[in-house]
Amino acid sequence: MKTYIVGNWKMNFTVGEASIYLHKLLRTIRSYRGIEVVIAPSTVALQPLSLQIDRHKLKLAAQNCYYRDFGAYTGEVSVAQLRGLVDYVIIGHSERRYIFRESDKDIREKVAAAIRCGITPILCIGETENERNFGETEDVLKDQLLGGLQNVSEEDLEKVIVAYEPVWAISSTKDAKLASPDDIAKSISLIRKHLEAKFGAKRVENIPVLYGGSVNPSNAGAYLTIPGINGLLIGGASLIAPQFNDIIEVAKRVQE
Ligand code: 13P
Repeated sequence: MKTYIVGNWKMNFTVGEASIYLHKLLRTIRSYRGIEVVIAPSTVALQPLSLQIDRHKLKLAAQNCYYRDFGAYTGEVSVAQLRGLVDYVIIGHSERRYIFRESDKDIREKVAAAIRCGITPILCIGETENERNFGETEDVLKDQLLGGLQNVSEEDLEKVIVAYEPVWAISSTKDAKLASPDDIAKSISLIRKHLEAKFGAKRVENIPVLYGGSVNPSNAGAYLTIPGINGLLIGGASLIAPQFNDIIEVAKRVQE
């Protein structure tokens, strides 16, 4: 399976800055057959960057989408409108769940719409610090995972990527902590266990599961060697070209 290195730029960079930054990235990063590098700029930058991008080196992702194709939905951008611009769409990021109050129902509709439009959904799940302290991690992961995938058929499962991002480990969270490889390994095995129970072990084997939360060039290697992990979803460090580039190089070394 490929290793996915996904940079989530969140609400950073103007369109001009994004274009300059992409130019810098395209100059520095090398393309490797086993590594899929993806960047998720804000929606306004997707169209210009889609013209500038070298798809051998990088693919584009949207950070969100709406599940209806067209209509009276002021302010929304549908997956149908993203077709041709992006290959991936991040769905259910914790910032969408907790700041914008997205429900599991919204998220499952978005996942289904992405699959229908031929765009790979990256479904994000993860427990908050409180949920972790109350011993609710497994229940939360199971609910978010199976809730998000409720409308996905067994055949379509292979079109999905899952990203595990414990909210307490995201660098912008107040008092963020670094997740240990052991913590992550436990959650990844829970995620795979619940996927297998629903879809069968054979189908789940090929589902990429990514990790996200304070990833940087020094910890990327340890995270990428956790069993069951197939890549990283990176926030802060993806905004600094040399760090993002170093993480890609770490991924390459881990693959060798
Ligand atoms: P950080 O890498 O800044 O912790 O962000 C993780 C994240 O939320 C990526 O989607």
